[in-house]
Amino acid sequence: MNAPFQSRGATLRDPFTAFVADDETAELIRPVAVEHGWSPEKVNKGGLRNAVQSLSVSASPNILFVDLSESGDPLSDINALAEVCEPGTVVIAAGKVNDVRLYRDLVASGIQDYLLKPFTADQLRDAFSHAQMTISGPRGNEPAADRPHIMATVIGVRGGVGASTIATSLAWMMGEKAGRHTALLDLDVHFGTGALSLDLEPGRGLTDAIENPSRIDGLFIERAMMRSSEKLSVLSAEAPINQPMMTDGSAYHQLQEEMRNAFEGMVMDLPRPMLIQYPHLVQDTHVAVVVVDFTLAATRDAIRILSWLKANAPQSRVVVVANKVQAGGLQEVSRKDFEQSIERKVDVAFPYDPKSAAQAAKLGQALAKVGTGAKLSGPMNQLLAMTVSTVDAGGVGEAARAGGSLLGKLGGLKSLVAKKPKEAKAGA
Ligand SMILES: Nc1ncnc2c1ncn2[C@@H]1O[C@H](COP(=O)(O)OP(=O)(O)O)[C@@H](O)[C@H]1O
Ligand SMILES: [Mg+2]
Repeated sequence: MNAPFQSRGATLRDPFTAFVADDETAELIRPVAVEHGWSPEKVNKGGLRNAVQSLSVSASPNILFVDLSESGDPLSDINALAEVCEPGTVVIAAGKVNDVRLYRDLVASGIQDYLLKPFTADQLRDAFSHAQMTISGPRGNEPAADRPHIMATVIGVRGGVGASTIATSLAWMMGEKAGRHTALLDLDVHFGTGALSLDLEPGRGLTDAIENPSRIDGLFIERAMMRSSEKLSVLSAEAPINQPMMTDGSAYHQLQEEMRNAFEGMVMDLPRPMLIQYPHLVQDTHVAVVVVDFTLAATRDAIRILSWLKANAPQSRVVVVANKVQAGGLQEVSRKDFEQSIERKVDVAFPYDPKSAAQAAKLGQALAKVGTGAKLSGPMNQLLAMTVSTVDAGGVGEAARAGGSLLGKLGGLKSLVAKKPKEAKAGA
């Protein structure tokens, strides 16, 4: 049997992750990490603060290197780290404070080693080998708790806003960053891009499922799904375009059901026409990610789809994601006017970044994997955190909570573009 179907709930940790405060430290660590067989990409900037943020939404590595040199209060910051770090992680800290009391206190709060900066590659090697010995010893292999399934549905309010890009990235992050076995279900049966964008062969799985819903079971899912990585599987089709899909939607429902059993997370890329045809597809979704851009047409359709979600997915947490956000004057509608029209805030904003988008397409990889700069990774992490926390914290029902009649707004839409464009920031 293939891994995702038997090891549900068992987390596989990254062997190593580092969060450093400056380039010199990064450059010192990368080659030593490579010597140990670890990816140099696991050396992140942002020091302790980024470590706390990242680990609050992702599985902890076996060995964690964290730079304390920007921390005003290393001891209390280490305790904040301890709260988000899973048991079994060996933490190596580094900093500029040469104080034996601090060293003792850090060790008492669970740090294995403290390297005084600047340190040498050899000191680092020593610390790593000590850490590896600790891990391979009898301790450190705690079983992971069985996590509740997360189901997220991504809906683009218009074609081309980047819904599939966001769906693929969210699925990739849920797998690789949050460590959940995740399924990406692309319901654009004729023109789906889930497989294409991850450089996979689409296969016949989805079309077979629709033609023959009674065949859908755990074994079918296992055979039909394409493996993008150990943590991410994809079901996406390129059905012949002379062949309409005849279905009452039961196949989709059945697929959701089986994926819920087989995976810890699922991201559904749901094209707009499907939502009209099969509204029941969102009735169990925990998170509805509504992808928009700041155009007049997207404003109108965001209003309509948010209102539709209130009626059809009242249980879900709605996350509004603005994509392809450009600087002030370049947009049809300003962020502020957009938010006023939809009567709520945009939760996450992605900048217009054609370079990273093209790079992702060329490499056949998720944008979240390719766009490692802060401009993209900030909002990506935010989206992942909002999605994962919905289930972990039980925070649903936002669609039900937002009051008022959105549809009443539609009449005044045209006035939005007539106005002088205002400042709109790409940051959330
Ligand atoms: N933030 C972005 N900046 C620039 N281009 C983007 C961005 N997000 C997506 N794209 C590009 O926009 C195009 C449409 O994206 P896609 O995800 O297929 O949209 P949808 O599924 O909403 O129709 C793709 O070529 C994609 O690479
Ligand atoms: Mg799409």
